[in-house]
Amino acid sequence: MSLGVVLVLALLLLIFPVYGYDPLDPTGNITIKWDVIQSDPDHKIRVSIFNYQLFRHVEQPGWKLRWSWHGKEVIWDMRGAETTEQGDCSAVRGSPHCCEKEPVIVDLLPGVPYNMQTANCCKGGVLTSMTQDPGKYGASFEMGIGSASDDGSGPRIPENFTLGIPGYTCGQPFPVPPSKFSVDKGRRKTQAVATWDVICTYSQYRASSSPTCCVSLSAFYSKTIVPCSICSCGCQGQLAANQCVKRGEVPPVLQLDNNEPPKPVLECTQHMCPIQVHWHVKQSYTQYWRVKMTIRNFNYVRNYSQWNLVVLHPNLRSVTQVFSFNYKPLDQYGDINDTGMFYGIQYYNDMLLQAGESGVVQSELLLHKDAGIFSFKEGWMFPRRISFNGHECVVPPSDEYPMLPNTSQFLAPSILTIIVFSLLLILAIFL
Ligand SMILES: *[C@@H]1O[C@H](CO)[C@@H](O)[C@H](O)[C@H]1NC(C)=O
Ligand SMILES: *[C@@H]1O[C@H](CO)[C@@H](O)[C@H](O)[C@H]1NC(C)=O
Ligand SMILES: *[C@@H]1O[C@H](CO)[C@@H](O)[C@H](O)[C@H]1NC(C)=O
Ligand SMILES: *[C@@H]1O[C@H](CO)[C@@H](O)[C@H](O)[C@H]1NC(C)=O
Repeated sequence: MSLGVVLVLALLLLIFPVYGYDPLDPTGNITIKWDVIQSDPDHKIRVSIFNYQLFRHVEQPGWKLRWSWHGKEVIWDMRGAETTEQGDCSAVRGSPHCCEKEPVIVDLLPGVPYNMQTANCCKGGVLTSMTQDPGKYGASFEMGIGSASDDGSGPRIPENFTLGIPGYTCGQPFPVPPSKFSVDKGRRKTQAVATWDVICTYSQYRASSSPTCCVSLSAFYSKTIVPCSICSCGCQGQLAANQCVKRGEVPPVLQLDNNEPPKPVLECTQHMCPIQVHWHVKQSYTQYWRVKMTIRNFNYVRNYSQWNLVVLHPNLRSVTQVFSFNYKPLDQYGDINDTGMFYGIQYYNDMLLQAGESGVVQSELLLHKDAGIFSFKEGWMFPRRISFNGHECVVPPSDEYPMLPNTSQFLAPSILTIIVFSLLLILAIFL
């Protein structure tokens, strides 16, 4: 890849960190698939939601799918999910599952009775990213639909889909080649009558106006610990929403509602971020250097399951060992191997517990010192970008980075001295 392309990409990273397009996951999307399994005499539909994103996942309370029917369609029955309201079915004979013009569908919780399930259902609306758990990034439900009008036209695919997760917008459905389903252990394939896709994309800009994560830095060669910048995510006491709990005080007891994410109750800090990532340059060996990463949760009412951290650093192309996190490189641009994803090890640290519990996970990272790029200077050892669960973290300004104990200042006079000496020498010779 040419230097020009690299520069353009670097520029893109600088200019577009918060808008719709994410250069770290350019094709990332959530795809809703609408498969017409049977259209005569009954309409049987399978709806699937696939999270085709490298690192963003759908957390609790999960997706809440919504669409608008064109006419008087009704949902007769549903398996693997349910609508939140039945709606007014007084004009319909029988007992449909839902008669709303804009039904809202939620996933069922794990462990519901077998007769309410379908294949790949019932995850409480939670979807992992493609990278983290390839088995859990999709969900499906089935329904029988019909049209309440008597004009004989069958039900049509609805429009205006939304996922009910902040930051996502969905396009309109468009037809794609029919899906194929493998049956009899893959020996036979069946086919949908027709298939439509709806593509939903994420934008941090639309998701929330203020950041939720910040980065602090330190290094073995410096006494300075660079804290998260003041007011990175909010300022203490400025808004009623920014009330916080002083360390050691007991947080208020909260009523947890399964349908709404609880409002954050933060420990008081200067940065007021729920998440702080600390990057400590721990040691330097002849061939390698070592970093310690610590993620701390300051929210008293939130556990982060399946958390992940995406880091951009030029030395990630030479990761030698990651001690207590999983690591996967995210090579979006072929040979620029500078971005990677860290996430917890199952049953060990894949859950970042709430503040007050042990709300900390940490790991060390061993990197090879590549000749030509490794440097102690100008904060090279610190990450260029970090995001937590796909949310960009606020990094301190680079002029605050821990500096080497003044080697450069020793160097400058010594070069000057050499030049002055040489000049004097030359003068001495010529005179
Ligand atoms: C959505 O993601 C899939 C899987 O990565 C990809 O094939 C497709 O091109 C993406 N669609 C868009 C519109 O980005
Ligand atoms: C979808 O939304 C558009 C714009 O709000 C609206 O004009 C249209 O009627 C909606 N479609 C349906 C089927 O309700
Ligand atoms: C977080 O997890 C701990 C331990 O499993 C549990 O006691 C606590 O209730 C959980 N908190 C929330 C907000 O779910
Ligand atoms: C990128 O890094 C990964 C692991 O660190 C390595 O397996 C892969 O070969 C690297 N790719 C390139 C092009 O250097």
